Amino acid sequence: MQPLLPDWAADVIDPQRPSPARVYDHLLGGFTNFDADRRIAARLVEIVPELAHTARAGRGFLQRAVEYLAYAGIDQFLDLGSGIPTAGNVHEIALRANPAARVVYIDVDAVAVAVSRRLLAENSQATVVQADFTDIDGVLAHPQVTAMLDFTRPMAILLVSVLHSVTDDAAAATLFKRLSAMIAPGSRVVLSHLTAEGDREPVDRMFALAEQATGRGIRPRSRAEIAELLGDLTLVDPGLVHMARWRPDPDAPLPEVRALDGYAAVAVKP
Ligand SMILES: C[S@@+](CC[C@H](N)C(=O)[O-])C[C@H]1O[C@@H](n2cnc3c(N)ncnc32)[C@H](O)[C@@H]1O
Repeated sequence: MQPLLPDWAADVIDPQRPSPARVYDHLLGGFTNFDADRRIAARLVEIVPELAHTARAGRGFLQRAVEYLAYAGIDQFLDLGSGIPTAGNVHEIALRANPAARVVYIDVDAVAVAVSRRLLAENSQATVVQADFTDIDGVLAHPQVTAMLDFTRPMAILLVSVLHSVTDDAAAATLFKRLSAMIAPGSRVVLSHLTAEGDREPVDRMFALAEQATGRGIRPRSRAEIAELLGDLTLVDPGLVHMARWRPDPDAPLPEVRALDGYAAVAVKP
C-alpha cells in the first residue's frame, strides 16, 4: 500500500524513488525528504564523505552572492533550479536588502515547487514555476516569469549547483549563450558548478550510484570548462574561485576547500 504522504508532497511523486532535490535538501540538513532520499544520501556520503560539505559550500555561495547583488542594486532574480526552500532563501535575502525586489523560482521537481508555492502563497513579489530550465526560451516566455520580471532592465540569473545536471556539454553551452543573449546589459549571471579535482574513482562511483537511484546524470566540469561556459562575460572580483572562497565572511577563518567543491563566479553582461 502507498504510504500516506505528508501534505507538502505533491501527489504525483513516488516517495520510494529518490529525487536530487530531496537528497540535496537532506544533505543541507532539511526535513523535506523521505527515507529513500536519506538512505541514498547516506550511501553517497559513505563513498565521498565531503559531499555534505560541498552542498553547504554551494548554498553559502548562493546566499552571499544574492546579498552582494541586492545591495549592489539588482532587484530582479531568476533562480533556475532553485531547489527545496530552506533557511536563507533567495527572496528572503533579496527582500531584506531591497523591499522592492522580485524573485522567480524555477524547478522541475514537484516537491520543490509544491513547498515553494506554499511558502510564497502570501508573497506578491516572489513566485515559482515548475519547468525544465533547459527549455530556456519556454521559461523566459512563461507568463508568470514575464509578469514578474522586466527583461529590458538588469536582472540576476542564478545557476547555482545545477548545471552539472546538464550532462551534455553542447546543451550547457547553448543554454548559457541563449541566456546571456536574452538579458539586458548590466545583468549578472551567478554560476557555481561541481568539479572533481581529487581522486576520481570514488567520485565517479558516487555519481554513478546517484544516477542509478535518481535517473539523473551528473557531469562535473573542470575550472577551464566552467571558465569557457562564462565566455566573454566580465567577472566580478574575485573572479572564478572555489565556491567557499567567493567573498567569504571577512570576520570568519578562511573556509576550507575540498576536492569535490566546485567553482563559482558572478559575471556581468557588458
Ligand atoms: C543541487 S539542487 C540546487 C538548489 C539551489 N540552486 C541551491 O543552490 O541551493 C539542484 C536543483 O536543480 C533542479 N534541477 C535540476 N535540473 C533541472 C532542470 N533541467 N530544470 C529545472 N530544475 C532543475 C533540481 O530539481 C534541484 O532542485
